[in-house]
Amino acid sequence: MTAQILDGKGLAEKIRAEIKDDVAAFTRQTGITPALAVILVGDNPASQVYVRNKELACEKAGIRSIMHRLPEETDSEELVALIKELNADKSVNGILVQLPLPKHIDEKAILDLIDPQKDVDAFHPENVGLISQGRPRFLPCTPYGIQQALIRYGVETRGKHAVVIGRSDIVGKPMALLLTQKGEGGDATVTICHSRTQDLPEITRQADILIAAIGQAQFVTADMVKPGATVIDVGMNRVFKETIDENGKPQKVSKLVGDVDFDSVKEVAGLITPVPGGVGPLTVTMLLLNTLNGARRQIGAQK
Ligand code: GUN
Repeated sequence: MTAQILDGKGLAEKIRAEIKDDVAAFTRQTGITPALAVILVGDNPASQVYVRNKELACEKAGIRSIMHRLPEETDSEELVALIKELNADKSVNGILVQLPLPKHIDEKAILDLIDPQKDVDAFHPENVGLISQGRPRFLPCTPYGIQQALIRYGVETRGKHAVVIGRSDIVGKPMALLLTQKGEGGDATVTICHSRTQDLPEITRQADILIAAIGQAQFVTADMVKPGATVIDVGMNRVFKETIDENGKPQKVSKLVGDVDFDSVKEVAGLITPVPGGVGPLTVTMLLLNTLNGARRQIGAQK
């Protein structure tokens, strides 16, 4: 049987409409328009697309986006100065530094500088610590979006075996933390797999919920999936294929694919996210929610 598709795009639209209403109510009550500052350094093509998506999503939700597009040569001191300025600016509720940063900049040192109250990515050690202790301030956008999708699609996590492939600070590790937390969308038994895991397919085949976040195109194949499992694909990989055009000339065409081999896995899984249109739109949605919640908390703190 073919799996049901988890329509991340459709779900994101629904949640964004709810956020838009909440933003409008917040602005009516406080006179404040929530604002998100986004910093992009350099011209990584994928990052440019992601940042543009974030900017458009803010606009549609009634959130002010303040874009800082900086050249590749930007040095750490300039970036530090900008973050300090945004930290001090009371009209800025959220700060996001798009990753990856150019190699000459120490990424962790920069992220550590962001005011934890404005850290809408939840990358700051203080926020990671709070998540780990089960009393989160912000939740990281991708795992948060996935958790919301599981809840809204009625996927039971309680007592289920969730297998996360990938141990990144952005997705793998926080995803595992969220799934083990007590309560709705949590209470799962979680295994984290990575590049050193032995007999990976043996483990992934035990997963009721399988989350692929490794950054390798079509890595998860049908033989690695338990029949009926929920499969969440966090991957966004651009692959190039040579084709022959109508004039007989070779052409390179690119295609976006996930970490899951969608065509084969959808024949085994019970529920599966597509790429694109799965996890990506949900990530941006949670960023909007974090910005609104950041603004709410900051107002509360100022009172
Ligand atoms: N680059 C890829 N994913 C992310 C993300 O979630 N946040 C930031 N800031 N950069 C990213």
